[in-house]
Amino acid sequence: MSYPIITAAEAAALINDRDIIGFSGFTPAGAAKDIPTAIAARARVEHEAGREFKIGVVTGASTGDSLDGELARANAVLFRTPYQSCRDLRSQINKGETCFFDMHLSMLPQAARYGFLGKIKYAIIEAASVSEDGEIVLTTSVGATNTFCHVADKILIELNEAHPAELNGLHDIYEPLDPPHRREIPVYSCSDRIGSPVLKVDPVKIAGIVKTNRPDEVGGFKETDAITKKIGENVASFLANELKVGRLPKDFLPVQSGVGNIANAVLGALGENPSIPPFEMYSEVIQDSVVGLMKSGDIKFASATSLTLSPPVLKEVYADLEFFKERILLRPQEISNHPEVIRRLGIISINTAIEADIWGNINSTHVMGNNLMNGIGGSGDFTRNAYISIFTCPSIAKGGAISTIVPMVAHLDHSEHSVQVLITDQGIADLRGKDPAERAREVVDKCAHPDYRKQLHSYFDGVKSGHTPQTLRTAFAMHEAFMEKKDMRGVVWSSEHSQ
Ligand code: COA
Repeated sequence: MSYPIITAAEAAALINDRDIIGFSGFTPAGAAKDIPTAIAARARVEHEAGREFKIGVVTGASTGDSLDGELARANAVLFRTPYQSCRDLRSQINKGETCFFDMHLSMLPQAARYGFLGKIKYAIIEAASVSEDGEIVLTTSVGATNTFCHVADKILIELNEAHPAELNGLHDIYEPLDPPHRREIPVYSCSDRIGSPVLKVDPVKIAGIVKTNRPDEVGGFKETDAITKKIGENVASFLANELKVGRLPKDFLPVQSGVGNIANAVLGALGENPSIPPFEMYSEVIQDSVVGLMKSGDIKFASATSLTLSPPVLKEVYADLEFFKERILLRPQEISNHPEVIRRLGIISINTAIEADIWGNINSTHVMGNNLMNGIGGSGDFTRNAYISIFTCPSIAKGGAISTIVPMVAHLDHSEHSVQVLITDQGIADLRGKDPAERAREVVDKCAHPDYRKQLHSYFDGVKSGHTPQTLRTAFAMHEAFMEKKDMRGVVWSSEHSQ
């Protein structure tokens, strides 16, 4: 079957006000680019003519600026899920102008199939190639693209020449049945293939192909500084000790590493530690540092759902694709983040917190309780089901005016029941087998910045009431101090504060 070759503007003209669209993309990797930009242009024209035009935007995770940024600036987003990291969109969400709901990424595809997100009308996806019988080779991510194509009425494809057709073989497309027919996910090791290298769709659903040649809009990572280096070294020495005392098998266990600068630096530190053997990854995102560690042999294999690489590093991968295709597998996010597989494989999860409290609860998503940063992403999928769950963060933010260790998190994403180890630039708090009062001491003494240790001790020292010596009346005094005078330092609790 031959498909209509159309322009991005012609594709955008097919979309109507209030349509719900499933876009490819997991991070900027593999995100649709030309068609969402053209939809944003269409929205501007409609708005100028006095007509309403907004669409529901569902993706794998965050995307690039030509999707989230363009649509947000055109005021064209009716609702957004499951994750974002775009400055303009974030600002609209935090002003209450755009509806956003934060979801565990493993659950997004099934929510789309169950109809929980409304009827997805179009799947708009990026591809490296498409055959006449509807076999699609995806690009740098799978995300939820397979599910969007499955549930949507129609599919629009951006055929992007920036990605080589030789990507065929990098992906493993598998979609579980829905209850009551669901069976086990048969992944028993990181490199197990359980599906098809191509995404198979009904060719009749393909409404048009837009040809393009645009690279992924992945920004670079900040250079590792002294703080992120120290966090990385602390994670590496914690895991080296787990190996030494026999709580990790000598061949190690697969690692999941989160998103952002700190996660990138932590992986680099694992590779540099001579006590940690070459390891595998069962993760969500492959960031820059993985590529160097694969070349040096420190990472043997990585299963994920996206190749989120800065342009020069992606170029390196494409220059030696055969080498990397033997070592990298991209799966749907429903499988890369599946709780069953994570628990079975015994993943070491390493994610980054915005703040942690002295009991081990983690806030991954909100600044000062109100403002969304990015979203929970896959951190909950991995943390809740890991063999060892680790959170990292610098002990202070904003030049020391914020302590990331607080009496009570201002927003809860991961509870003390799921979080086993907290690591900052100051040290390692091992929370396993400790009661709340022991945890509080461990977190403050090992992880808090010295400027904050005394005041944090004054919060719980001497409080005798209850299993968790929390004082609800004053638990947010440090947050309040920051909101009033832009500094958390100097808050001291009197010994009577809990009475
Ligand atoms: N209060 C206020 N701001 C804080 C803060 C706190 N307690 N902690 C960090 N910040 C700010 C930093 O100052 C920085 O701001 P800037 O951009 O203005 O400099 C920003 O948050 C990002 O911090 P950075 O130290 O650069 O961390 P990062 O790039 O490693 O990202 C998260 C950290 C938490 C934002 C990021 O990991 C995230 O979104 N996590 C949630 C999703 C997730 O875990 N996904 C992984 C699943 S596989």
